[in-house]
Amino acid sequence: MTQRIAILTSGGDAPGMNAAIRAAVRAGLARQLDMFGVRHGYAGLIAGDFRRLGAREVGGIIDRGGTMLGTSRCPEFLTDAGQQTAIRRLAEHEIAGLIVLGGNGSQHGSLALAQRGVAVIGIASTIDNDLAGSDVTLGATTALDVALEAISRLRVTAAAHGRVFLVEVMGRACGYLALMAGIAGGAEAIVIPEAEQSPEQVALAIQDAYRRGKSHAIVVIAEGAKHNADALARHFTEHAERLNFELRVTKLGHVQRGGSPGAFDRLSATLLGAEAIERWCGGEHGILLGLSGAHLTVSLLRDAVARPKPLQPQWLHLAHVLSR
Ligand code: ADP
Ligand code: F6P
Repeated sequence: MTQRIAILTSGGDAPGMNAAIRAAVRAGLARQLDMFGVRHGYAGLIAGDFRRLGAREVGGIIDRGGTMLGTSRCPEFLTDAGQQTAIRRLAEHEIAGLIVLGGNGSQHGSLALAQRGVAVIGIASTIDNDLAGSDVTLGATTALDVALEAISRLRVTAAAHGRVFLVEVMGRACGYLALMAGIAGGAEAIVIPEAEQSPEQVALAIQDAYRRGKSHAIVVIAEGAKHNADALARHFTEHAERLNFELRVTKLGHVQRGGSPGAFDRLSATLLGAEAIERWCGGEHGILLGLSGAHLTVSLLRDAVARPKPLQPQWLHLAHVLSR
């Protein structure tokens, strides 16, 4: 019988997921595999929500953000019973291999399935870039571009009014998006969970920027920072008279996630989707496919999710130097 491979997308959708689905399906078909999609991530796996995917079903999606399969956060999959049901559904549908597109949480799920004997290959896909197994994850680059576009616009109005703008970006517990958006957006200060600062330290950085002759300031803040945009705004408002700067807050939120994937994410997704099939055909599983620069990387799932992703300290240093 022709072997069956299923693909699912889990957690937050990321630009490039569709391009990876398309590549995996068409590479699978070229290898005479039967390709299936699982709807809505692990929830669909537990519900047995599978659909066969042919070449035409994945047409016209390479440039679309989101995921044609749908995704979910699925608390039931965290339970023993949920995982057992998921494995039963795979067996019922005679699925021999599973490709999981998702971030840190989703790849913990991949590992749980792999440890129960499922032939899983993970593809690092999340705007958060929080997987140690990949220098950069699918979607992060496009999300960064969306954040940068917003920051450029905010700088225009910040300059016109001489204001301080607090711009909060996504990323969960990981400061990658904020740090990179801050550096590439020319921020006067960057606040991330990996290098916490008190509100007074941020206020000092802003005041110092004005003292050095700047007419306005952009502060990029990771949503996962202890002192996020709300906390900082509260502090600055309480001490408004003393601090003496006019403040506005913008939370970019989900707008960062829905962008059309840029060239890097489309090409990387295509490479990773097709490679997942090649690796599976070569007998490999229990692995995470990711990226280092433009190169594909392979790590064991258990290593890829075992440690938090470190931020490279030279970026932090550079951010400080360049904000002068
Ligand atoms: P992301 O993959 O974007 O980090 P989540 O952390 O929300 O998103 O994870 C997506 C889903 O993956 C969760 O809703 C859950 O079903 C599954 N998952 C998360 N963590 C684990 C875990 N430790 N073990 C098994 N499954 C997990
Ligand atoms: O994991 C991607 C992400 O966009 C995070 O940056 C953010 O914290 C979270 O998802 C938001 O989740 P939801 O879409 O469930 O509100």
